[in-house]
Amino acid sequence: MDQRNIILIGPMGSGKSTIGNIIARRLNREFQDSDHYIEERTGVDIARIFDIEGEQGFRDRESNALKELLSQNNRVIATGGGSVLREENQKLLKQQGYIVFLDTSVKQQLQRLRRDRKRPLLQTENPRERLEALFEQRHPIYLDLADLQVKTDKRVARRLAADIIKQLPDSLK
Ligand code: S3P
Repeated sequence: MDQRNIILIGPMGSGKSTIGNIIARRLNREFQDSDHYIEERTGVDIARIFDIEGEQGFRDRESNALKELLSQNNRVIATGGGSVLREENQKLLKQQGYIVFLDTSVKQQLQRLRRDRKRPLLQTENPRERLEALFEQRHPIYLDLADLQVKTDKRVARRLAADIIKQLPDSLK
């Protein structure tokens, strides 16, 4: 059997945690969520880490979390939307897993994240503008890293998860 990790990448609100959880259950793999892991380790939430240490501080913690999470095999791992920014992370993700990109439009992100208060990058006057700028910057990186790209728009999580499983290489199932 292929012991590689299945790694979910994509922007905020693309459903990485929800979908990852379902895929892990169906494939009988352990599920890990990078943001959740960081919060458990530090004992505070992501917003607080941004407050105290700034985005750089958070990114350092994120890189460490990825190293730790990806030191084991056979997991399903949901990453944070910005975890693809650093080159060292890109290399690690590529080396340590099969990468599934949840491709989501800004429109859908806005619908899903309308009332979000937990994501520091969205606590701004104009969340749409912020999401569009992040899309411009990150979409090419997501595409470049992806082994599998799946559009998420207007789809129910369960179905999307089933669809992703169908498209995974047989060796991973
Ligand atoms: C971020 C995405 C968040 C979280 C942090 C920064 C980003 O994770 O890591 O707020 O830079 O896009 P989700 O993608 O799980 O929302």
